[in-house]
Amino acid sequence: MKGEIVFNKKLSDKYYYMKIKSPDFVINAKPGQFFMLKTQNFDYLVDPLLRRPFGICDIDNDCFTLLYILIGKGTYLLSNLHPGTIISFSIPLGNPFTIVKNSKVALIGGGVGIAPLLFLAKTLKSNNNFITLYYGGKTKDDIHLIEEFEKYCDNILISTEDGSIGSKGVITDLIKNFDYDIVYSCGPKPMMKAVINLFKNKVSKIEVSLDERMACGLGACLGCIVYLKDGEKIVQKRCCIEGPVFDGYKIVWEH
Ligand SMILES: Cc1cc2nc3c(=O)[nH]c(=O)nc-3n(C[C@H](O)[C@H](O)[C@H](O)COP(=O)(O)OP(=O)(O)OC[C@H]3O[C@@H](n4cnc5c(N)ncnc54)[C@H](O)[C@@H]3O)c2cc1C
Ligand code: FES
Repeated sequence: MKGEIVFNKKLSDKYYYMKIKSPDFVINAKPGQFFMLKTQNFDYLVDPLLRRPFGICDIDNDCFTLLYILIGKGTYLLSNLHPGTIISFSIPLGNPFTIVKNSKVALIGGGVGIAPLLFLAKTLKSNNNFITLYYGGKTKDDIHLIEEFEKYCDNILISTEDGSIGSKGVITDLIKNFDYDIVYSCGPKPMMKAVINLFKNKVSKIEVSLDERMACGLGACLGCIVYLKDGEKIVQKRCCIEGPVFDGYKIVWEH
């Protein structure tokens, strides 16, 4: 698929927000899905060879957005693309989050892991849910799109490790209420592990989105294997096909 960059804004030192116009992409996109993106627009450039996976951050009419952080070559090239550029990407991939109705839900995001939670918040709001967002970062430079989240979330609690915005500390320090029907989380693995431990035996359903490194994104290379509990057994699942959203209580973190 191809689409045109509408904007590619620098939000802070390392964070960028890109909007891409593609009516064909948005028509089937669901919250929690991702796509494989070619991070440069010149066909003669073969480096980086592999497309990079990104979560769908938001959908707006004919457009979708991605929130991304500079990591290496691919994201650096991406940050240099201008509005009007045509770029190439896959269809929406992977298993989405479960969308509940008329429920109390918590969204817990850390750093760039907040990205898929915006489209999720918008969809949950339109299904009459009461939404609390917990959003943590290291500094204020990690906290973005708050005005967007305010449109859909009933409560927003923010923390940063240095206290530059919100409460000082980690996001799990702010979680005192456990009266939720379902919890959704995306962020660094230590944060998601802590979140799952906190909610264990208190909330029956927790879905997490995992950002495993991916090569093909299509189930062929087995480069994105995660380990899950299945009764007494431990089974392997491909993050790109059976994920990236998984039942948080089933994940085996240390394998
Ligand atoms: C389903 C999914 C959704 C994602 N959504 C987003 C998103 O919305 N926004 C965003 O900014 N990023 C997202 N990511 C991560 C993103 O794909 C990587 O940051 C990106 O591929 C880095 O590409 P690069 O060429 O800049 O860095 P590379 O040159 O590929 O890597 C630079 C360094 O970072 C390490 N690295 C790269 N990717 C990862 C990773 N996934 N986990 C741990 N270490 C890594 C490499 O080992 C290397 O040391 C997502 C990943 C997945 C699997
Ligand atoms: S990335 Fe190749 S199998 Fe998942």
